[in-house]
Amino acid sequence: MSDRVIPLVNELRASLAVPSPALRPWQAGPTLRDALERPLHDLRISVTDRCNFRCSYCMPKEIFNPQYTYLPHSALLTFEEITRAAKSFVALGVQKIRLTGGEPLLRKNLETLIAQLAQLQTPEGRALDITLTTNGSLLARKAQALKDAGLQRVTVSLDGLDDAVFRRMNDVDFPVTDVLKGIEAAQRAGLGPIKVNMVVKRGTNEQEILPMARYFRGTGITLRFIEFMDVGATNGWRMNEVLPSAQVIEILQSQLALAPLQASQSGETAARWGYLNAAGEHDAALGEIGLISSVTQAFCKDCNRARLSTEGQLYLCLFASQGYDLRHYLRGDMPDTELTQAIASIWQHRQDRYSELRSQMPASSELGALGGARRVEMSYIGG
Ligand code: GTP
Ligand code: 5AD
Ligand code: SF4
Ligand code: SF4
Repeated sequence: MSDRVIPLVNELRASLAVPSPALRPWQAGPTLRDALERPLHDLRISVTDRCNFRCSYCMPKEIFNPQYTYLPHSALLTFEEITRAAKSFVALGVQKIRLTGGEPLLRKNLETLIAQLAQLQTPEGRALDITLTTNGSLLARKAQALKDAGLQRVTVSLDGLDDAVFRRMNDVDFPVTDVLKGIEAAQRAGLGPIKVNMVVKRGTNEQEILPMARYFRGTGITLRFIEFMDVGATNGWRMNEVLPSAQVIEILQSQLALAPLQASQSGETAARWGYLNAAGEHDAALGEIGLISSVTQAFCKDCNRARLSTEGQLYLCLFASQGYDLRHYLRGDMPDTELTQAIASIWQHRQDRYSELRSQMPASSELGALGGARRVEMSYIGG
């Protein structure tokens, strides 16, 4: 028998206490900022902790096996609760909402939630940017209905074009052609600009970097390469499986002409590189790629993202081990204004900058030195 210790993933976590709004009351008007002067711009809402894939970097099969217990339905925020929370976040400056999972398209009637969120407006009266991260497996079937409900765009996760490599990475033998059909359906439905996210693991799929770049070049789809991250506590992360973005760009530039582009907005996760034409100029028709270097080049300095878990815990960092229990307030009789005030107060106290601290540590140190408590899983709070 193996003596491997299998960590309990969804053990009951104590929530953090919501700080008193009276400490630094927030009033509509000036931009809300956290303790490191970062604004709140982006809300990522996880709508399910389930997924039909078992990517080893996210939901490894040995842990997420048939005995694994997911959240019961009663624990999930209802669409009304999610919309109510979103309304408070929007009042505080959120302009973009990303639905995540697990796999968000597994949540029943997701279109209904999208339609509710699409009604929200920023305090300036602008529509929100509503998007979704999906593994693409159900997209061919659902793209048009999502668009009709008010979804603007999608980001599709795809780790390779070679069918054998892709099946190995999703670990449920899912064929790559079905995801490619899903991407085409999203394009036809007008769910763009579409982004494709490829997690690169050294020794597993780096040979897919060039074929992926060639496939998406000139299609209007932006391919982004993501460094394999030490998120969660179950994916067996090791630095020697990270292929630094600097090496990814070297591989790309060995065959394709690319030059760095300016960031399009502050707080962007990806560094942008544009394809060049024969004259050596960036050609918008050929498009661009992105490099997300969470491990080798932390981007905490401008991090403007809050994350709401499937059961209504508010997390301030992808690497946090505890969240704030907003469900308690959403299910109680707290008036909207007080809910908004409580969220403002949480954001004002935020100091998280995990990746930055991690990169300042000597390579030999243990991750535990950054706080010890076991970090939440990506499938629980979403990428
Ligand atoms: P858009 O560019 O607006 O489409 O969105 P985005 O880049 O915020 O979103 P996306 O969900 O596509 O993020 C891409 C990947 O970047 C995620 O899957 C994560 O791997 C990583 N990522 C996103 N946000 C963070 C973050 O706050 N911290 C870290 N360390 N990684 C992040
Ligand atoms: N490292 C980097 N990205 C990850 N994702 C999930 N787990 C990891 C990890 N360990 C991201 C991928 C996927 C999205 C849902 O989450 O980008 O596309
Ligand atoms: Fe599912 Fe996405 Fe996680 Fe893969 S990365 S297991 S598709 S949630
Ligand atoms: Fe933001 Fe935390 Fe990611 Fe840094 S590590 S960018 S603070 S989510």
